[in-house]
Amino acid sequence: MKVPALDLKRQYKKVKKEIQHNINTLCDKQQFVLGKAVADFERSIAAYCGTKYAVGCASGTDAILLSLIIAGIKRGDEVLVPSFTFIASAEPIARLGATPVFCDIDSKTYNIDHALLEKKVTKKTKAIIVVHLYGQTADMKKIIAFAKKYKLNVIEDACQAIGAVYGPLGKKAGSMGDLGCFSFFPSKNLGGFGDGGMIITDKKSYADTLYMLRQHGSQKKYYHTLLGMNSRLDALQATVLQVKLKYLDEWIKGRIEKAAYYDRLFKEKLERLIVTPKVAGDNIHTYHQYVIKINDTSKKRRDELLQYLHKKGIGANIYYPEPCHLQPCFSYLGYSKGSLSVTEQTAWTTISLPIYPELSRQEQIYIVSVIDYFLKK
Ligand SMILES: Cc1ncc(COP(=O)(O)O)c(C=O)c1O
Repeated sequence: MKVPALDLKRQYKKVKKEIQHNINTLCDKQQFVLGKAVADFERSIAAYCGTKYAVGCASGTDAILLSLIIAGIKRGDEVLVPSFTFIASAEPIARLGATPVFCDIDSKTYNIDHALLEKKVTKKTKAIIVVHLYGQTADMKKIIAFAKKYKLNVIEDACQAIGAVYGPLGKKAGSMGDLGCFSFFPSKNLGGFGDGGMIITDKKSYADTLYMLRQHGSQKKYYHTLLGMNSRLDALQATVLQVKLKYLDEWIKGRIEKAAYYDRLFKEKLERLIVTPKVAGDNIHTYHQYVIKINDTSKKRRDELLQYLHKKGIGANIYYPEPCHLQPCFSYLGYSKGSLSVTEQTAWTTISLPIYPELSRQEQIYIVSVIDYFLKK
């Protein structure tokens, strides 16, 4: 049996007619950059997330870069960020000449460990980027209290977590810090037909500046108040995403059901060998990824399992095989193996399994039986 890591064709079947209708309307209008489609979608995202403003931009990476600019991050500043994340959480910090200060994660949720943050603060610390990894929010109550104490801006990298809810505050991912960032990369839970991103905020002054920054620092054409960039959300993406947004909650529900079924299968067959994802408190985890940890194992054995899954036609992946603090592009920061032990252990022992609302029970049974066979042989 072949089970792809993600099969967007299955999702497309459901929304094809509506999307094609919207694209045709847009083609008739020939308005492809910003405009009504983008403004409508921005309003929809703000309403969905419970914030006052939403500003579209070209990608999740740009959403983080623009948020850092808004937060006033500049050369010499330090920004706290987990190392166990996609490089785009940290890359924009360095792009601005500031220093990413890599933090370790909690071994159960894989999100930044708030208990270790105090040790990382210096006079230069100006902001914290909190990543809601795999679709579950980090412990925002603790992080917001910590940020208040040290007067830090809180930027939520919610690129993997649109629709996730942080239980203790009953709030959606991205809506709790000063600025929240989303990616609409096609594989995301809300994915476009190319790159796209968004920043949400409750602060009008932030939103007003973002509208300018994404468009060459300009409010009036050819007059440039700020030094900006070209980072606009295409109308084509907005019109596609507007359709998909209607189904997002249903799709999240589907992912939660698939995760619960995996949990059940692993509990029945492999309880002592596999650690399934932990949902903290009454969070709503959106399972952008379903990540298992193989107990008492080595990187070598995990890699062999990955190879075996591939041999059996299963599109498993590792997110992320090399933590940010050990990436060559950050070697100048001087981290070495062992600097962030939980992060490293997690990177060496976890595997992401296929998860999407359209995944069938037969496919899930097959995946778990392949893992069962490999680990017990
Ligand atoms: C955690 C995280 N941050 C940032 C990004 C960057 O988003 P994009 O690919 O839209 O630039 C991604 C997605 O790839 C991500 O998963």
